[in-house]
Amino acid sequence: MRIAMIGTGYVGLVSGACFADFGHEVVCVDKDAKKIAALRAGEIPIFEPGLDELVARSVRERRLSFTTDLAPAVREAEVVFVAVGTPARRGDGHSDLTFVYEAAREIAAAAQGNMVLVTKSTVPVGTGDEIERIVRSARPDLNIAVVSNPEFLREGAAITDFKRPDRIVIGTDDALAGDVMREVYRPLYLNNPPLLFTGRRTAELIKYAANAFLATKITFINEIADLCEAVGANVQEVARGIGLDNRIGPKFLHAGPGYGGSCFPKDTLALIKTAQEADAPINIVETVISVNEARKQALAKRVSDACGGSLAGKIVAVLGLTFKPNTDDMRDAPSLVLVPALIDAGAIVRAHDPQGMEQAKRLLPGAHFSDGPYQAAEGADALVIVTEWDAYRALDLDRIRSGMKSPVVVDLRNIYRPDEMAAKGFRYFSIGRPAAGD
Ligand SMILES: NC(=O)c1ccc[n+]([C@@H]2O[C@H](COP(=O)([O-])OP(=O)(O)OC[C@H]3O[C@@H](n4cnc5c(N)ncnc54)[C@H](O)[C@@H]3O)[C@@H](O)[C@H]2O)c1
Repeated sequence: MRIAMIGTGYVGLVSGACFADFGHEVVCVDKDAKKIAALRAGEIPIFEPGLDELVARSVRERRLSFTTDLAPAVREAEVVFVAVGTPARRGDGHSDLTFVYEAAREIAAAAQGNMVLVTKSTVPVGTGDEIERIVRSARPDLNIAVVSNPEFLREGAAITDFKRPDRIVIGTDDALAGDVMREVYRPLYLNNPPLLFTGRRTAELIKYAANAFLATKITFINEIADLCEAVGANVQEVARGIGLDNRIGPKFLHAGPGYGGSCFPKDTLALIKTAQEADAPINIVETVISVNEARKQALAKRVSDACGGSLAGKIVAVLGLTFKPNTDDMRDAPSLVLVPALIDAGAIVRAHDPQGMEQAKRLLPGAHFSDGPYQAAEGADALVIVTEWDAYRALDLDRIRSGMKSPVVVDLRNIYRPDEMAAKGFRYFSIGRPAAGD
């Protein structure tokens, strides 16, 4: 099938490359000329494991191309996906749909025949209705079916998630559009993922409900971790003890610095806005948002407490800046709250991240950046692990210890064991676990 993907960011590029790998003919469109020029030159503008090879193969085999010119891409396509950004609107937390509606108008203007317009961006309930109104009034001569097909991929594992999804949600009441979507995803049938057909509004809401549930699960275990610290219990054992219950499940029960990233913060906010406006507030998600925010705000105090109550003049090494490993995405990362708070408290921050430093340098102007974890730790009064990159999981602890001025480690991801850290001579603070010997 001929597919146009409007928006070539994390979701558009991965989806476009995967569809092309399935054998579809895909044109990825983006307004960002630099991004398209880079892609045409064989450079991948984001870090996502395996994406470079996938893109190169489909480009070589002429199934995948890139352009800034939306109109010809849309004219040739049977299916047009919209994967543009839907950030939180400044000030009120509503989802900013400017890019989505603009794309819808451009698609309608360029369309030459009947087509299926699929919203892959995460959009609030009712957005599909508005897109339909826009395209109908612009092109009463055409039959453009508007379908919702939310995306559930995770950055860092995006290709596997896209090719082996837990489910594919397709929101449409239009039988013909449903058949087209079956055809788009037919190459996935081998893996047999459930194809869930729903109404369009339901599909839109499924995406928000999924993210809000996961954000709630993380926030729940984070509060249990705080309780563990207060009463001398171990949150990892509690998580295992409850996670083995099939009704609960083991995933998303890792206590840490609070959720961040490009989706959970903005999607939880947008969901509570939708709910408030519908006069059906979701109190639990409102609480999750404020608990998570407070947690991020309190991170610097954890470090300060570990350093004896003051950070003035102290050198703090920060390992990991991205919101999770295996991505270069810095959007709403906990480090964006922690690092400025450390600096405000008088600390000198030396940060390192395997992939996120280029973006981080723009976002954390007061921080210094090191070439590696050992360089960051050299002469430091404390070392804070913020993101659990593999590169930090097996550090040479003797080398770290001997380089540091004072052997304080604050592990916000629980990647080390309190007993091994104590044996190496560290004063080790983690999340929701008793210190060695307690
Ligand atoms: N990032 C994720 O992990 C993830 C996962 C699931 C769903 N989503 C959702 O997918 C959507 C896209 O997210 P993302 O992270 O890929 O965003 P992104 O910011 O990385 O990419 C969006 C791209 O769209 C382009 N764009 C905007 N308007 C355009 C237009 N009119 N024509 C052509 N290009 C245009 C931008 O230049 C940008 O490159 C969002 O709604 C997001 O919530 C994201």
